[in-house]
Amino acid sequence: MKPGPIWVSGATGLLGGRLVPRLRRDDQALRLVSRSARPDQRPEHIRWDGVRADPADLRSTSAALHLSGEPVFGGLPTAARRRRIWNSRIDSTRALVEAIGDLPADERPDTLVCASAVGFYGDRGDEFLDEQSPPGEGFLAELCTAWEREAAQVEGLGVRRVSLRFGIVLAREGGALALMARAFRLGLGGRLGSGRQWFPWVHIDDAVELTLLALSNEELRGPLNAVSPNPVTNLDLTANLGQVLRRPTLLAAPAFAVRAALGPLANELLGSKRVRGAAAGAAGATWRHGDLDGALTAELA
Ligand SMILES: NC(=O)c1ccc[n+]([C@@H]2O[C@H](COP(=O)([O-])OP(=O)(O)OC[C@H]3O[C@@H](n4cnc5c(N)ncnc54)[C@H](OP(=O)(O)O)[C@@H]3O)[C@@H](O)[C@H]2O)c1
Repeated sequence: MKPGPIWVSGATGLLGGRLVPRLRRDDQALRLVSRSARPDQRPEHIRWDGVRADPADLRSTSAALHLSGEPVFGGLPTAARRRRIWNSRIDSTRALVEAIGDLPADERPDTLVCASAVGFYGDRGDEFLDEQSPPGEGFLAELCTAWEREAAQVEGLGVRRVSLRFGIVLAREGGALALMARAFRLGLGGRLGSGRQWFPWVHIDDAVELTLLALSNEELRGPLNAVSPNPVTNLDLTANLGQVLRRPTLLAAPAFAVRAALGPLANELLGSKRVRGAAAGAAGATWRHGDLDGALTAELA
């Protein structure tokens, strides 16, 4: 990466909440775009509408890190929400690439790291999945495929691109783990569907380090799975979480109930994705919390 500030969207989110302090520890200059930034917070905090990036804000940056998007879970799975989930990722990534293209070549960032998700792989049973595996089916697989295609357009501008296919990020402060822990603490913990589906997870601190690796390692290009090296089944996750929280896990949410609650998004929890971090491992990544028990204990005990 050349010297210069990093343009970051989604800094106010779950991942951004740990990533930004980590970048600051390295004295990295930042341009943080947010829908809630105020004019008096410039130049580090920059207001945007969540879609249209201003080329001036990207001028002479070292990299762009695009993490923002309407949360996939949380709220009813209405058609309007699905549209927001789609547009906040696809339209914003297209606009970001256009904004980079509006700059003279020597003023462009040399790297774009853009979020994606293991939802790319759909529902694949016990098949081992790595970055070379083709996409699956369903809403999230289509979303991730389109999202990565938009991000890849930046390569035509001479900019290196990495699409981070995040597994389910485990963090005490939000996301899936916070929701599950709340249910388990109320004694409502249990497997989802058959429980045999593979659950690709990543501890938030490892997700942050994998993001830094994507930014700094110029050999990395294209998709990069950001997952723990040890995927587990939903049954393993349920048992481990019950143990760490010392709560029973006797209940089970049948697949039809999960589908009734989440509609097309249910596949993300019921679908099976045995995803490996092949490219990150080959690039020398190490995981601080690679085993589930340690990751859950670090966040919840
Ligand atoms: N967390 C996970 O388990 C996980 C798993 C796989 C993939 N990912 C992907 O990784 C990225 C970062 O994840 P995260 O969990 O940190 O995200 P997050 O906390 O849900 O959201 C990140 C930021 O997106 C912005 N945002 C929210 N709704 C928006 C909308 N309708 N339009 C435009 N911007 C909106 C918000 O920033 P402002 O309000 O500051 O604008 C928010 O802080 C996301 O794209 C997510 O899809 C996450």
